[in-house]
Amino acid sequence: MPKEITLCSPLDMHLHLRDGDMMKLVTPLTAETFSGAVIMPNLVPPVDSLELLLAYKKRILSSLGGHQFDPYMMLFFRGDYTEAELAAAKEYMLGIKLYPAGATTNSEAGVKAIDAVEPVFKMMEEMGIPLMVHGETHGFVMDREKEFLASYDYLAQKFPKLQITMEHITTADAVALLDEHENLRATVTLQHLIITLDDVAGGMLDPHLFCKPIAKRPEDREALLQAALEGHPRLMFGSDSAPHPVEKKECCGCAAGVFTAPLAIARLAQLFDKHDKLDNLQAFISDNAQRLYGVEPAEKLVTVANVPFEVPTAYTGHDQHVVPMHAGETLDWNVTS
Ligand code: NCD
Ligand code: DOR
Ligand code: ZN
Ligand code: ZN
Repeated sequence: MPKEITLCSPLDMHLHLRDGDMMKLVTPLTAETFSGAVIMPNLVPPVDSLELLLAYKKRILSSLGGHQFDPYMMLFFRGDYTEAELAAAKEYMLGIKLYPAGATTNSEAGVKAIDAVEPVFKMMEEMGIPLMVHGETHGFVMDREKEFLASYDYLAQKFPKLQITMEHITTADAVALLDEHENLRATVTLQHLIITLDDVAGGMLDPHLFCKPIAKRPEDREALLQAALEGHPRLMFGSDSAPHPVEKKECCGCAAGVFTAPLAIARLAQLFDKHDKLDNLQAFISDNAQRLYGVEPAEKLVTVANVPFEVPTAYTGHDQHVVPMHAGETLDWNVTS
C-alpha cells in the first residue's frame, strides 16, 4: 500500500484566477482540490469597489466546473476608501490587498506612499478588516522584501489591532519578523519552499520560475521551509499561482508569476513527506488559515498518496495555453481522491 494522507478542506490563501478565458481554464484546476482560496484583485482595472468585487465573484462562481469552492474575495487597496464604502463591503470580502505602485503585475494603481494612507489603516483596524500586503520596495531586487520589513514592523506597532498578512514571504528576515508581532501573519508559496535564485537564473534562465518577489538565497529557503514544516501557527499556504499565457512567459520581457495550482497539493505532500512532517501539512494548508481568518470552508476531503504524477507539459483550453511548474516532470505524490 502506498503511503497516503487525507487533508481536510485545503485552502490556498493567495491565488490569481485572472478573468475571461484564463479564469475559465484555471479556476476548475484549483476548485477540484481546494475547498477555498483568497482571490487576488489585481485585474485590469483593479477590483476596487464592492460592485466590481461582486461581479468578479459571480464570474468566478460560474467558472467552477461543478466543484464546491469558496472564493474569498479581496478589494484592491485605495487610499481614498470611505468608511461607508468599507462598511458596505466588509461582509463580502476577507480583506484588502495593498500593492506598492508598480511593484508587480497590474499594480500601477497601487499606493505611492504608505504614510499618506494611514487613515484607511485606522478605519480597517477599527472595523476588523484584515490588510494583505505585497511587501516590496523599489530597491535592489534581492533586497526589496528585506527593505519593506521596516514598514511591516512600523504598521504592526502603530496599528496593533490591525491584522496584517505579509504575502508570499521569501526571506529568513521575514520569518523572524513574524515572531515579533502577534498581529502579523504570513503566506508562503510552494516555489519559495523549493527553489532559490539559482534555479531561476543560475544556469539556463527558467522563465517559468520567475516571480515577484524573486526567489532568494539557500538560507532564506531553509528558514521558510522549517517554519512551514513545523506548522508555524501564523504561516499559511498561499500558492500565488499566477498563470500567464505561454507567449508572455517564453519571450523577451517575461511576465512574473509561477503557475502551480494543479500540482501544489501533490508537491507539498512530497516535500513534507521527504522531511517526515506530513502530520503538519494540515495546519499549513488549512487549519492555520481557518483560525486566523475565522473562515469555515465546506468540508472537502482530499487524499494524496505516494504514487507517480506526470505533470502535464501545459494546461490548455478556452484558447489558453499555460505552462505549470514542474512541466513534464514526474512527481512522487499525487492526489488520488
Ligand atoms: C528540497 C530539495 O532540495 O530537495 N528542498 C529542501 O529540502 N530545502 C525540495 C525538494 O523536495 O525538491
Ligand atoms: O510573480 C508574481 N505574479 N507576483 C505577484 O505579486 C503578482 C503575480 C501576478 O499577478 O502575475
Ligand atoms: Zn504579490
Ligand atoms: Zn500574488
